[in-house]
Amino acid sequence: MTDAVEHQLWSLFREFLERGERTRRWSVERDVDWSTVSSVGAGAPAGGASAPPSGTTTAMGAGVVSAEIVDIVESFFAVELFLPDYVSEALRLLRSSRGRAWMQAAWGYEECRHSLALETWLVRSCRRTERQLEEFADACLATPWTLPYDEPRKLLAYQMIQELSTAVSYRHLRDHADAAGDDALSSILRHILIDERAHYQFFRDAYRVMLADDRDGAISDLHFVLGTFEMPARRCIPGFEARGARMEQARVFDATIFVKEVTRVIYAHLDVPRRISLNTTPQEVSR
Ligand SMILES: [Fe+2]
Ligand SMILES: [Fe+2]
Repeated sequence: MTDAVEHQLWSLFREFLERGERTRRWSVERDVDWSTVSSVGAGAPAGGASAPPSGTTTAMGAGVVSAEIVDIVESFFAVELFLPDYVSEALRLLRSSRGRAWMQAAWGYEECRHSLALETWLVRSCRRTERQLEEFADACLATPWTLPYDEPRKLLAYQMIQELSTAVSYRHLRDHADAAGDDALSSILRHILIDERAHYQFFRDAYRVMLADDRDGAISDLHFVLGTFEMPARRCIPGFEARGARMEQARVFDATIFVKEVTRVIYAHLDVPRRISLNTTPQEVSR
């Protein structure tokens, strides 16, 4: 990487950190009104229930989130659990780039709230017990997440795509929380998706630096990663196939959303032509 590229990445990181300190700091305890969480009562079965069992209470004004949506919240809790792997694996590859390595550290600090907030909601809504989540977390973390790409520019493309995909998913999930009337969950998801958008913006702006440095190479890497992209940790989470299917059924994330709300947005933001490459997936062909 040239000194000029590194200098620009460092400047982007400084801007990201300063803006984040001013506008996006939030606390799981202080900034979520936990009195609005919808609860099905202690002792709810694993897997949740679509309506509160008789004799249980629901917070005033709060609706009940369906079992399917609870399952999706739990799936995102699991995806966010792999934070130590996401940070350590990326730092191993990126430590020689000060801008990207420090970004990874700051990113990890922001991401740690996401899993914590979702875990806290699952427990306080009585949809899962602490014990259930501990056992689920142990099962997930039995398989470490490893880098999907071991070249820094491809990893940057992956981070950009992943952050926008996650932001889009949380926005759709928040729509379900809004419809159910669970203000606590809506609030958590709003905080998280604002963070995810900010992360996307950093990685997108960093990718613009890569395009300016080596346009053909950066476009080729972008096409390659778009054609091979998978949501993080899906191979590490037990039973993710069924969990992914529930996300698709709920229109939280699926191939069409990926095309319309991720791929096309990235092409437009980067002013890069859409192109079918050797690594194009069947879904990619229709983009
Ligand atoms: Fe996150
Ligand atoms: Fe993020």
